[in-house]
Amino acid sequence: MKFDKPAGTNPIDQGKVVGKPTSRIDGPLKTTGTAPYAYERHDVVPNQAYGYVVGAGIAKGRIALLDDSAARKAPGVLAVVTAQNAGKLGKGRFNTAKLLGGPDIQHYHQAIALVVAETFEQARAAAQAIRVDYVREQGAYDLEKAKDTAFAPKNENPDSAAGDFATAFKAAPVQFDATYTTANESHAMMEPHATIAAWDGDKLTVWTSNQMIHWGVGDLATTLGIPKENVRLVSPYIGGGFGGKLFLRADALLAALGAKAAKRPVKVALQRPLMINNTTHRPATIQRVRLGATKDGTLTAIGHESWSGDLPGGGLEVAVQQTRLFYAGANRMTRMRLATLDLPEGNAMRAPGEAPGLMVLEVAMDEMAEKLGLDPVEFRILNDTQVDPEKPERPFSQRHFVECLRTGAERFGWNKRNPKPGSVREGRWLVGMGVAGAFRNNLLTKSAARVRLDGRGVVTVETDMTDIGTGTYTIIAQTAAEMMGLPLERVDVRLGDSTFPVSSGSGGQWGANNSTSGVYAACVKLREAVAQKLDIDPATAEFADGEVRAGERRMALADAAKDGELVAEDAIEYGGLDKQFQQSTFGAHFCEVAVHTGTGEIRVRRMLAVCDAGRILNPKSARSQVIGAMTMGVGSALMEELAVDKRLGFFVNHDLAGYEVPVHADIPHQDVIFLDKTDPISSPMKAKGVGELGICGVGAAVANAIYNATGFRVRHYPITLDKLL
Ligand code: MOS
Repeated sequence: MKFDKPAGTNPIDQGKVVGKPTSRIDGPLKTTGTAPYAYERHDVVPNQAYGYVVGAGIAKGRIALLDDSAARKAPGVLAVVTAQNAGKLGKGRFNTAKLLGGPDIQHYHQAIALVVAETFEQARAAAQAIRVDYVREQGAYDLEKAKDTAFAPKNENPDSAAGDFATAFKAAPVQFDATYTTANESHAMMEPHATIAAWDGDKLTVWTSNQMIHWGVGDLATTLGIPKENVRLVSPYIGGGFGGKLFLRADALLAALGAKAAKRPVKVALQRPLMINNTTHRPATIQRVRLGATKDGTLTAIGHESWSGDLPGGGLEVAVQQTRLFYAGANRMTRMRLATLDLPEGNAMRAPGEAPGLMVLEVAMDEMAEKLGLDPVEFRILNDTQVDPEKPERPFSQRHFVECLRTGAERFGWNKRNPKPGSVREGRWLVGMGVAGAFRNNLLTKSAARVRLDGRGVVTVETDMTDIGTGTYTIIAQTAAEMMGLPLERVDVRLGDSTFPVSSGSGGQWGANNSTSGVYAACVKLREAVAQKLDIDPATAEFADGEVRAGERRMALADAAKDGELVAEDAIEYGGLDKQFQQSTFGAHFCEVAVHTGTGEIRVRRMLAVCDAGRILNPKSARSQVIGAMTMGVGSALMEELAVDKRLGFFVNHDLAGYEVPVHADIPHQDVIFLDKTDPISSPMKAKGVGELGICGVGAAVANAIYNATGFRVRHYPITLDKLL
């Protein structure tokens, strides 16, 4: 189905099932520990052996000698895979460094060996017996130092401009200019990267934990040098991804290589320390923001520059992305530069770009509002835009940012905020409130699904879409139920298998809107097939209560399929509208904090998010997404930081004891409001992404609240206690 004009009224608008706060259908499995995760799939194939990954002990250089002879003789060992014996390997489209390193080492804990043994303990013990001699080279590990050698990656749209920023900034009656830093962060999901691999002749099946099935199949085939038709990837349940599982990683490749070498199925989970240095992370940034305004608070100049680092061949952290679109202002400049660093591979983590970008931009907006003597809510409202400010001929499909700010201010009790920093005290605590805007694009991408109606009147949906804890199973079931006029219990959803039609996958908050739109398209075809059985016009047929009706005629759906399953498959494809309109999601975050005057301890007391993200398909799962994202945003503001060893080039705090993340108990009160909107330009579902919007701007709201509480502005994140004392 081609989606190239705004959606008219369609069956989703009935809202009998879609839009209801339905509990997740996989919820009981998750909460009782019975959702089978990749490493636990003891059932799928017999005789599984265990793999243990060895990571490089240096960040840059080469292996002079790798002696695995003792390991090979160790008890229970079945195989040792290294670059010396793995044969020629390709490199996946989405990988920067090699997933199996050697003799050259590109980053610390790059995998250099897999030991396969009868038991996990035997594999681990044998791994200690591998002797590696390295020749260490000095790498670049310090972004600040590498900043001056940073370059503009041409394929990443590093520069943008409109008007004349330099002149306008110079002429602006009120100017603001400050430089900030954000930290390297880890996805730190609960379930590690894990895979069971099994070969059947030249056919490979991997049971793994991956957000993007189709990308995974492609990159695994490319890396192994086999046809993609020979690779099956299965990932029905995922214990967190956050962008860390968008790509093929070492667990899947090494499990496949290990299984080949051992001639047995092999399971591999990355040990927790490898999660930090072996896989990807959100790169640190240095960001400079310059704002120029008239005395009444109209922005006339907006400049945002960002520097980040990555391995050779890697990419930018696109931290200025939102600044190109968020606020009006005739004269603008954004610029991103990439420094070559030899730290582990940087890549996407929840709201890549906007998360660190808004951390900085929205604090700068707070600082500017104060300079102007304006309320920070009013300052943002004053500079709202309904068009792409760099290309004014391009309107937003919808933009209700002002409504988010006003609704949130009202609900949060913003009028009780004392604008004078450091002036509200409760005993030894200083109390303050902060606000920040949220922005994240709504990305459109093709997504396919297959639907089957059987003689029981049950519709089964098959798509390679994933549920990374987001609620995909549920919203897809809701979509099919609404389309076919069935109760939720009569829809069966099967996800995460590369034998199913190729979906959008889960990433960039594009999963919900695109994958349900693909299911919508398939269901339109299934409705046609049912109508044909009855010889009625599908356009006027009504699907309700498990029946199809046309005038006086009616038939149970089960009967339509009694002579055999009806099967329909289609994809949503987008054409044109996304070029004509800028599609984004908006929000406002409010936060109240208390800061202890003696210890600098920061306590988040309450938070509120107001989201403008089109139709909310399931307010319950969407709310959970936003609350989780808000919690993660508190992490970026207050505690999440990978500590860089700048001499040796690795992240020191490589476990969940050293890498601190907030939990729900850290924030006593969180609330979410969804504006009641539908966006007919986004898709037939009229929905948009919301799971990443939830983190965008949160950190800045926390930082701004800390400033309001204490009068002390911290520009280097996270705001750990030492920076406040
Ligand atoms: Mo997201 S960082 O694209 O999973």
